Amino acid sequence: MTDTTFFSKILCNWYESHKRDLPWRNTNDPYLIWISEIILQQTRVNQGYTYYIRFINRFPDVKTLALADIDEVMKYWEVLGYYSRARKLHSSAQQICSLGKFPSDYHSIKQLKGVGEYTAAAIASFAFGLKHAVVDGNVYRVLSRYFGIDIPIDTAEGKNYYYFLANDLLPERESVAIYNQAIMDFGALQCVPKSPHCNACPLSDSCLAFNQSSIENYPIKIKKLEIKNRYLNYFILRTNDEIWLHRREGKDIWQGLYEPFLIETTDDKDLFSRLEHELAHLFHFQASMQQNVIAMNIRHQLTHRSLVCNFIEIITKQKPTFKEGHNGKWYALCEIEDLAFPKVIQKVMNLYSDNKRKKKIL
Ligand code: ADE
Repeated sequence: MTDTTFFSKILCNWYESHKRDLPWRNTNDPYLIWISEIILQQTRVNQGYTYYIRFINRFPDVKTLALADIDEVMKYWEVLGYYSRARKLHSSAQQICSLGKFPSDYHSIKQLKGVGEYTAAAIASFAFGLKHAVVDGNVYRVLSRYFGIDIPIDTAEGKNYYYFLANDLLPERESVAIYNQAIMDFGALQCVPKSPHCNACPLSDSCLAFNQSSIENYPIKIKKLEIKNRYLNYFILRTNDEIWLHRREGKDIWQGLYEPFLIETTDDKDLFSRLEHELAHLFHFQASMQQNVIAMNIRHQLTHRSLVCNFIEIITKQKPTFKEGHNGKWYALCEIEDLAFPKVIQKVMNLYSDNKRKKKIL
């Protein structure tokens, strides 16, 4: 099974046992589907249900709606607000009547007033079984998490990317309507924005965001994306033939990789005096220890953070003792080559790895 077939099969299976019984799902009448989609643009499914029943009881087909007085249509729409939608609905109903039938291909459906890409895809797939993927907020969320997509959804690039991905994932024509309903319900019931039910999710094993414990970060939005700086101030503590290193743990970046002694700050105001002060707290730092600035302001961009890395070497004849427990170790310089470092640190570590070292520093 290809990845795309696997994804759509799992979703359709899930839908089989979890789907909501909604009145617009028991029909392939494009008029009824159109009305339901326009109502659902304005209200949640629970409320939409009641308004939908009320609306189609009074306007059961496109002709009744086209012939109705606009004031009456507005009255029926009143509770939903956003009256321009009701006006467009009425005018489109007249347009459809003059065409003689409901348009039956995606592009003609999209010509109707008030019908955008999402609604056109919903009508085309639910009513006519055409292969057009619905892409709404639920779909963005499900796809972004499952595939770990870091392209912001509120950019032209993101919209384009999701559009093509969603359409690539579509199953064969006879299952398109089910699949489109399935992914929307999956987003609405299972893969919800806050505290999604990952422990009971049939896709969790292969869900990238779940496996990286980053579900809450998706989907990425550029407007939300406030990129903050993290200042990673590394002190390369070393003797003539050993270097102190720490293996990163926990949920933060670079889990399992090695790094020199770190003092992290959220800004770089008075950096040097603050660092000296901190160092004095952390271990028996002596002014006699030689300090060399190796590299400053090395930038490394992550999705939500911009890392600013500073590297300062501290050369000491005797190994300093830490005042508090710091779970690092002294490594012989010849061992460095075998340890894994984040890329930005690796470049600096190359200066120390034994066979690259040209001269003794002490
Ligand atoms: N939200 C928008 N369209 C929907 C549909 N057809 N079913 C459930 N929720 C929806």
